[in-house]
Amino acid sequence: MKILIRNGHVVTAVDSYTADILVDGSAVVLIGQDLQKISGALDKTVDATGKLVIPGGIDPHTHMDLPFGGTSSSDDFETGTRAAAFGGTTTIIDFAVQYRGQSLNQALDVWFSKAQGKAAIDYGFHMILTDLPDQRLAEIKNLIQQGVSSFKLFMAYPGIFLVDDGIIFKAMTAAAEAGGLICMHAENGVVIDVLVRRALAEGKTAPKYHALTRPTRAEAEGVHRAIAIAEMANSPVYIVHLSCYEALKEVQAARDLGLPAYAETCPQYLFLDYACYEQDGFEGAKYVMTPPLRDKSNQEQLWKGLRGNDLQVLSTDHCPFCFKEQKELGRNDFSKIPNGGPGVEHRMSLIYDGGVVQGRINLNRFVELTSTAAAKIFGLFPKKGTIAVGSDADIVIFDPNREQTISVKTHHMRVDYSAYEGRRVRGVVETVLSRGNIVVENGEFKGKPGYGQFVRRGTVH
Ligand code: URP
Ligand code: ZN
Ligand code: ZN
Repeated sequence: MKILIRNGHVVTAVDSYTADILVDGSAVVLIGQDLQKISGALDKTVDATGKLVIPGGIDPHTHMDLPFGGTSSSDDFETGTRAAAFGGTTTIIDFAVQYRGQSLNQALDVWFSKAQGKAAIDYGFHMILTDLPDQRLAEIKNLIQQGVSSFKLFMAYPGIFLVDDGIIFKAMTAAAEAGGLICMHAENGVVIDVLVRRALAEGKTAPKYHALTRPTRAEAEGVHRAIAIAEMANSPVYIVHLSCYEALKEVQAARDLGLPAYAETCPQYLFLDYACYEQDGFEGAKYVMTPPLRDKSNQEQLWKGLRGNDLQVLSTDHCPFCFKEQKELGRNDFSKIPNGGPGVEHRMSLIYDGGVVQGRINLNRFVELTSTAAAKIFGLFPKKGTIAVGSDADIVIFDPNREQTISVKTHHMRVDYSAYEGRRVRGVVETVLSRGNIVVENGEFKGKPGYGQFVRRGTVH
């Protein structure tokens, strides 16, 4: 397909100008003025006058088809990536899980089979490590060479995902030596476990106790420890789903010392807060995620971190569970509510509205936070994460003036509620190209399951 995108306002992490973009096959081949004069026969022309033309979003934190909390996340790679495309995300990095006794390649094969034939957009994998005896350490390098160059470790969920500090140190050392990156779920899960048991023993079973048993101090301690271990291992570290100011201050302090500490936050921590748990009945279960939603006072601090680059990335941690039958598993015990929430579809519009429209970040930073920074940190750049000659034609035509109301009635995620029900946002994804093919146009899905390809990521430092 040869497609000319005409007269759009092209925004990358560093540029902002009006131009035409010529796409031929899977890549951008030319950027300039009046390209119709020289582009020859075209399959399609898209008029982008008055629209932003931005790099396809990269969401480096999703959980499609994840077995968790006695059930599985309700979006699989087909429904979840279709919803992502509707929202202007053209690449996800999902989390494969290595269970006890499995080799890393056995684990990866399971996630390949979940994604292949289903994903509508490109995808990569991080690997969650749960079982790392010394003889397996070499597999880390092997996986990095296969394009899986980042790993997630958990300081939380004892008995399920938690690994101890010694394992963290060994994994960081092995990953760093081979050019890989450790992503850390940083919360003191051992202390949290005690708090959870105490709360339940006192008959505190409602969803809000999920938040009340996971204090910000537990997260900040985890972040501090993760960075300290990384420093000893001579390794970079990337903190996932950072939710609060106390934890952010730990990242800031490390970065001020020049340490290679990186962190992401997610829209839920910018737009939702602890009050969600105080709703009547069991409604609060919709917001049971880890870390939990925090006091509203954290939000402006997170925005400040995003503006000043102490936070580099905006991911979603998309991990949806239906309210009926899934969240309901914890109706009488908050610790049995599957942890996670939906979000992959509305990241770009929410951040445009809350960030750019509200004057908190500029357009370049919007692109950097939703696409470019993740591409650079996770070894996808410049194939993805920018609009440039030779880069994949992952392009979003975004109407900066149109508004939409987020609702379960109109979203495409396979989940029976929206965490942002009724929220009105300015900024609508209009047309989406994935490797040169139109996958969304005028609110209609034009892609197909299985089109998405696994992306082998490069080393990350
Ligand atoms: O509650 C969450 N965040 N669920 C997904 C798993 C994780 O820890 O990222
Ligand atoms: Zn996590
Ligand atoms: Zn997650």
